[in-house]
Amino acid sequence: MTSDSSGTAALAALVDLATPFAVRTAVALRLPELVRDGHTTTAALAQACGADRDALARLLRHLVAVGLFAEQAPGEHALTPVSRALLDESNALLRSWLDAGGPGLKMDLAYSGMLHAVRTGRSAYGVVHGKDFWSDYRDDEALRVFFGATMAGFAWQTGPEVAARYDWSSVSSVVDVGGGTGALLGAVLTEHPHLTGAVLDLPEVRPEAEEFLADLGGRAKFVGGSFLDPLPTGYDVLIVSRVLTDWPDEDATRILRRCAEAVPDEGRVLVVEVLAGEEHAKNNSSFDLQSLTLLGGRERRPEDFDALAAPAGLVRRARIDGPNGLVVLEYARG
Ligand SMILES: C[S@@+](CC[C@H](N)C(=O)[O-])C[C@H]1O[C@@H](n2cnc3c(N)ncnc32)[C@H](O)[C@@H]1O
Repeated sequence: MTSDSSGTAALAALVDLATPFAVRTAVALRLPELVRDGHTTTAALAQACGADRDALARLLRHLVAVGLFAEQAPGEHALTPVSRALLDESNALLRSWLDAGGPGLKMDLAYSGMLHAVRTGRSAYGVVHGKDFWSDYRDDEALRVFFGATMAGFAWQTGPEVAARYDWSSVSSVVDVGGGTGALLGAVLTEHPHLTGAVLDLPEVRPEAEEFLADLGGRAKFVGGSFLDPLPTGYDVLIVSRVLTDWPDEDATRILRRCAEAVPDEGRVLVVEVLAGEEHAKNNSSFDLQSLTLLGGRERRPEDFDALAAPAGLVRRARIDGPNGLVVLEYARG
């Protein structure tokens, strides 16, 4: 069998690891910011970021080749649409994820264990880093704070939608199970002043969560614990937002069973997720592999959540769709 040169070129582009690491190194050295601020020559950049001049020149040559920078004259650098996008405030979370000196790289290095993940169907993080993701998250404060801030970045978008689209009028109390620093609960309580609530999350998350919840004037508290163990009772509604995707089926059902045990007879469990809809499929195949490799989790469809909920004794009563694949699945005890 013979292959044409375009196939070989496409293959080379697919497997080139230098580029993602070069971009991450540029982000860590703040090269886009420095070029924007007028440090455009190799010498000025090397001095401003404290790098070896020759090595930096070689990095810049590659970054020019892949379009992160333009070279207007030899050794004179300028921003391109790509580096301008990187600098855009809307990409602040992506920028911190890409920082080669930060926890985002540690998370992405789990991909180096993908062979293990695909062979076993389980997370590769422990194989690569010596302990599973959630154990490392509990031990490594920088990783935990980074992950919490990234999740809160998403919850700033989902929270107001959940607050607006669900009928909270007959609810008086709500617990956000695995609610992180409380961004989603904060949005719901701010919009509905009659509600009180709690965030249930790992004890290590308490400092960041309590700092955030303090703004809610005593209407919300933090409860340290695990959602794999019995949950606090006495709340009308339990929210499980963007949690189940992180877990294999068996654990996801266990979390839902804990919710079913804790919810009152007339209460509700709300599963909030961002689905791999048609227009998101391209990115979500990558997100699905990330869930598998990092956490042993997976992307699911609404009927998949129903299948996880059934053995936990929960039956879907309603589905509320929001923008960009957001869905709220309302369950009650069957
Ligand atoms: C993907 S984040 C979702 C955060 C938030 N619910 C949201 O929608 O943005 C997963 C959350 O689960 C929490 N978590 C992980 N393992 C947990 C456990 N065993 N018990 C309770 N929370 C846990 C993490 O601390 C994190 O806040």
